[in-house]
Amino acid sequence: MKKNLPIGIFDSGLGGLTVLKSLKQLLPNESFIYIGDTAHVPYGNKSKDVVKKYSQEITKFLIKNKVKLIVVACNTASSVAIRSLQKQFKIPIIDVISPLKNLLDIDEYKKIKKIGIIGTYNTIQSKAYDRVISLKNKNISIVSKACPLFVPIIEEGFDNNDITMSVAHEYLEYFNDEKIDLLVLGCTHYPIILKTIKKVLLNHIKIVDSALITAQHVQYFLNTQNLSTTIIKNGVIELMVTDKVLHFRKFAKHILNNQKLDIKEINI
Ligand code: DGL
Repeated sequence: MKKNLPIGIFDSGLGGLTVLKSLKQLLPNESFIYIGDTAHVPYGNKSKDVVKKYSQEITKFLIKNKVKLIVVACNTASSVAIRSLQKQFKIPIIDVISPLKNLLDIDEYKKIKKIGIIGTYNTIQSKAYDRVISLKNKNISIVSKACPLFVPIIEEGFDNNDITMSVAHEYLEYFNDEKIDLLVLGCTHYPIILKTIKKVLLNHIKIVDSALITAQHVQYFLNTQNLSTTIIKNGVIELMVTDKVLHFRKFAKHILNNQKLDIKEINI
């Protein structure tokens, strides 16, 4: 039965695990196949065509492995490849950027006047967030900044140390000066250094990441499309990477709070 097939998720590396974590919390009975494209991380400074190509290959692989839905748990791939993926493949594909519009409908967020966005070069250049925000509310002003050093620092296993802190000061003080009300973590890796980001930002600035809003959107989609699993027991998580698993394993265990994770290396 289609409903009982797993959900496919992918990212360039371990960032998408933050989305998987939220999905697992919200939808414990669903099963997941996660692919971290560790052979090609980072996506953020590659050309758009290359990111599209990697995203297409992973999507084909997930479809071959019989998933019912794909979540592009990477803001970079979501911003440059989502349209071509949705055009090319029949399977439903959900990105991590458009769910922000649901958040802006909530009363608490209607008062927001200025939003800051951080992400990779590709995500910031694509202006994908600017489009989602101005479709909802043209009066919100937007300031954004690419933070290219965060992803390699995180993939290297430096989550919240002094190096991360000094890079965060370099990138984020700008947003305090700009007097933003909300900072969007426009890269699925960034929640891993949330503690550091919070320490640099002024206290009143709200922070939103893609994980929870995307998971809520997936839950809504499954319910409305009648695609939720009918199995009433904990789902299975399969983790796959396209290259070595050194830091990936450590972080996967930590993020998903599961010591028994099996991680497969695959060739795509
Ligand atoms: N986690 C990714 C994103 O959300 C990938 C960043 C990268 O590979 O550069 O953009």
